[in-house]
Parts: sequence; C-alpha cells; structure tokens
Amino acid sequence: MIRQAIIPLAGLGTRLLPLTSVIPKELLPINGKPSIEYILEECRMAGIKEVIFIISKKKEMIKNYFNKDNFYKSIFKKKKDKRILYEYKKLNKYKKMIKFVYQNKPSGTGDAVLKTKKFIKDKYFLMLLPDDLIIKNNCSKKMINIHNKRKCSVMASIKVNKKTVNRWGIYSIYKKIDKNNFYIKDVIEKPNINEAPSNFAIIGRYILHKKIFNKLKKQKKGKGGEIHITDSIKKLIKDGEKFIGHNFKGKYLDCGTMAGYINSSAEISKL
Ligand code: G1P
Repeated sequence: MIRQAIIPLAGLGTRLLPLTSVIPKELLPINGKPSIEYILEECRMAGIKEVIFIISKKKEMIKNYFNKDNFYKSIFKKKKDKRILYEYKKLNKYKKMIKFVYQNKPSGTGDAVLKTKKFIKDKYFLMLLPDDLIIKNNCSKKMINIHNKRKCSVMASIKVNKKTVNRWGIYSIYKKIDKNNFYIKDVIEKPNINEAPSNFAIIGRYILHKKIFNKLKKQKKGKGGEIHITDSIKKLIKDGEKFIGHNFKGKYLDCGTMAGYINSSAEISKL
C-alpha cells in the first residue's frame, strides 16, 4: 500500500523569472488552476491519503493558499457564490491531506527528500516533482499498480532525444519486463551524450523505499553542487534494491521552463 506522497517545493524557480520573483512557480496558473492542484488531483485519484509538502520560508505563500479559512468565511457571510463555495471545499479537502516540512536552503532534491524522513510511515512512498505534469493518464496510479504487483521501487520514464540526455537522470536497462517496463541496471544524473547509457529519461514520479534515507544521509553533493536523489538511487540499486522504469502512457508537460509553462496551458485547454 502506498499511502503517502512527498512533493519538493522549495526550489527557487529561476527558470520562470520574473514571474517567480513574487509567486511560487507551483501557484502559477495553468489554464486557470495552479499547477500544484493538478499534482494533488493526481495523488488523490491514485489513492494517496497524505501529502508532505517540502517548502521554504520564501514559499509560505503555498501554505497560505490552502489555509485561508477566515478569508473565505468572511466572504460567505456577505454572499454565497456557488463557484467560490466549490473551490473552497476543494481546497479544504486538500488542506486536510497536506503536511508541511521545511527545507530553507535549496540544496537539491535529495536533501529535500531527507527532510521527510521522520514522517514516512510505510516501507514505500511516492514522490512527485511539481515541474512535471502528466495529463490524460494517471501515472502515479499506474506506478502504484506496478509496485503492488512487483513489490519494488518504480520510476516514470520517457524516451528522449539523445541530444538532450544532459537535462535528465538517465537509466540503463538490466531486463525488459514488457514493452513499457524495465528492470533498471544503473542510473546517472544529467550525463553528457558520451556517458549516457541510453536515452531513457527519468520523469518526476518515483516510488521509493524508505532505505533511500540511509543513502541520502551520507550522500555527497553531485552535479551542480546539489544533493541528487538519482545519486542515492544509484547506490540503492547497487545494494540490490529492484527498480522498474515505467514508460508511462499519458502526455508529459514540462512546466519548469517558460516555453514549457506556456505550452502547458495550451495543451490542457485542449482537454
Ligand atoms: C530532476 C532529476 C532528474 C529528472 C528530472 C525530471 O531534475 O534530478 O533526474 O530526470 O528531475 O524532471 P531537475 O528537473 O530538477 O533538474
């Protein structure tokens, strides 16, 4: 059973400046809805009961977005607008699912994950990276199904253009399970084109074993001076933890860059 999800949200969002100088990127609307709500919806529909947000002092606006009870109540005293009431109830439902932890220095995804250590109750948990939206198919739900069947770690992936491998975590295959699922032999964070063992790129959905925390505690900084989750995953694989790469069916939208962000609204408005 996967009941908990974690979402690292302390990143600075420099690729979306100047918008992110005042608004956290996860609150920027995509077709009229903050991107974080798409991620929460995916979690809820996948049966997740608790979501841990890793935020920073600078990004408390995210907490405020879900904690505006008094504000909404004062509005409802004046008028009962059906649309506002619907939105309020939805946010309230999410609020009950969310727990907040802090990562005040942005030192990479691996460091963010480590902040959740004492809150993870089960053997396995889900992690979603908020820059990566996946539409038309619930990727988390599918990955949970695979995990339930195979009892191992799972990561979402897509085949990318060879020229872009240095933008992603890339994995090599140990054994093919079927057309879209592979046991992973090794992973490498943002390799250059000559080092890349394939063009299978990891996308921001991971089902991880709690054992990852032991690796993260000892994890040294990697590419770009950050603590990468990929580097600790590499060590877990070496220790014998099974990882499946799952080429998902939905459409991937990269909201972390300005061009990708603009395109996301266009794509979602077509749904
Ligand atoms: C992170 C991971 C990388 C993964 C990517 C997916 O990179 O470190 O392995 O492929 O997310 O979006 P980032 O986007 O933070 O540079």
